[in-house]
Amino acid sequence: MTIRKGIILAGGTGSRLFPITGAVSKQLMPIYDKPMIYFPLSVLMLTGIREIAIITTPEDQPQFRRLLKDGSDWGLSLTYIEQPSPDGLAQAYLLAEHFLDGAPSAMVLGDNIFFGHGLPELLADADAQAGGGTVFGYRVVDPERYGVVAMDKSGAVTDIIEKPAVPPSNYAVTGLYFLDGSAPERARSITPSARGELEITSLLQSYLSDGTLRVQQMGRGYAWLDTGTHGSLLDAGNFVRTLQSRQGLQAGCPEEIAFEQGWIDTAALRALASRHSKTDYGTYLTRLADGA
Ligand code: TTP
Repeated sequence: MTIRKGIILAGGTGSRLFPITGAVSKQLMPIYDKPMIYFPLSVLMLTGIREIAIITTPEDQPQFRRLLKDGSDWGLSLTYIEQPSPDGLAQAYLLAEHFLDGAPSAMVLGDNIFFGHGLPELLADADAQAGGGTVFGYRVVDPERYGVVAMDKSGAVTDIIEKPAVPPSNYAVTGLYFLDGSAPERARSITPSARGELEITSLLQSYLSDGTLRVQQMGRGYAWLDTGTHGSLLDAGNFVRTLQSRQGLQAGCPEEIAFEQGWIDTAALRALASRHSKTDYGTYLTRLADGA
């Protein structure tokens, strides 16, 4: 099987976060102690993916490059791709077609934060599917804001509907999509929706109508956090702070995942830790390197 590649879609306008996103990308906003993009990046790394494209607006790309560089510090290979205007999530597959070069992919939205026991297993299971696609359904109180899963009496998925006025269920499709190598070709045949976007739901419907889309439930033990508004951004930061200070473990720590995956050695981890020597983050990395 061709090795799966990763995409982080981190463009958009972040208009619901104005004025804080007036000069800085939403996906670089702090989630307590680290930039938001560390979290979706960690999800791809936990899946075992090392070749990752980061799609941003042309204006924001220099800041992402400054932060993440070529990825080699963490054993990754990062590619940067511009999205000139936010023309929809499915456009990512057209922009990344050359990068993917026929490979299957895992795409995660740059503002999506996932946390939960068993996440690596869930990701490994989706990664192991050779063909078709896997997406994750998550119960929310406000499904009308999302792509929503319609199910029949047996619980089988019958449709995915974008922002329905009358939601057929409370299950939203999260911003994490495992699709096979046919995604760019399928994206090419999609026409823009009434709001002028290439909708991810249209792409998923193409898999659904072929009978090759799996919708996995992400159960109540998981957190899928919203970061799109001022209040939810603060809540996400407080969630991460509470979790980390209670457990003494980091959430969304790329250095730790790279080390656990065996992509960087102890000496490299120690060097990375020294860059953060004035913070608890650095102390944490040093402790990891010490094997404590
Ligand atoms: P949204 O939250 O729908 O849009 P946004 O981030 O621009 O925010 P706002 O509604 O406040 O203006 O986007 C979800 C994620 O997808 C977010 O990480 C931005 C990203 N995105 C793109 O990168 N390109 C796109 O064309 C679209 C529609 C979204």
